[in-house]
Amino acid sequence: MKFFVDTGDIDEIKTLAATGMVDGVTTNPSLIAKSGRDFKEVIQQICSIVDGPVSAEVAATDYETMRKEAEVIRKWGDNIAVKVPLTEDGLRVCKELSDDGTLVNVTLCFSPAQAILAAKAGASFVSPFVGRLDDISQDGLQLISDIVRIYDNYPQFDTEVLVASIRNPLHIVESAKMGAHVMTAPPAVIRQLYKHPLTTSGLAAFVEDWKKTGQSIL
Ligand code: E4P
Repeated sequence: MKFFVDTGDIDEIKTLAATGMVDGVTTNPSLIAKSGRDFKEVIQQICSIVDGPVSAEVAATDYETMRKEAEVIRKWGDNIAVKVPLTEDGLRVCKELSDDGTLVNVTLCFSPAQAILAAKAGASFVSPFVGRLDDISQDGLQLISDIVRIYDNYPQFDTEVLVASIRNPLHIVESAKMGAHVMTAPPAVIRQLYKHPLTTSGLAAFVEDWKKTGQSIL
């Protein structure tokens, strides 16, 4: 499973990239607003830190303007994935960009039907939002299971399932069991993956016992 970080925070990206675990980055207009920085500057900086796909989202919602914005955004880096919304206009842009060899991430996917459309439009990634479905008492993980199953039926679909809107480690583990290709999570959730109380207590005991030996490795 590929790991993308869902943030516009450069320091967080640098720290996590140093672990060697970061395969890409996703952003959205809300994350850019949260960074308080210039969109192009942030994206270009991220592209210089991470080799893998960096998703940068169009701001418009109509075909003509989205198409123009996509032309601008895709020149910001060799590893840009233009992010478009899962709408009729968005998928029209997706099809044209994909035919041109540009990576496209289709975002705001909330149903298997939408995911089929994204694959037919040649998307490199489709982003089903697990947490936002859970928030309205619908089963976000069931959507992942449905999409993976459907895509498996059609080997000609090249679209990777990018599990988004992740709120906790269980979302990641369950999606991995289902065979989802990629997950994108906020830095805090990625850090939660490392944690287990038995690791913490076990390590504390080893540190104490090592002190008793009076030895030093270095
Ligand atoms: C994905 O690309 C989105 O940026 C993100 O996962 C949305 O997550 P949220 O529902 O926590 O805003």
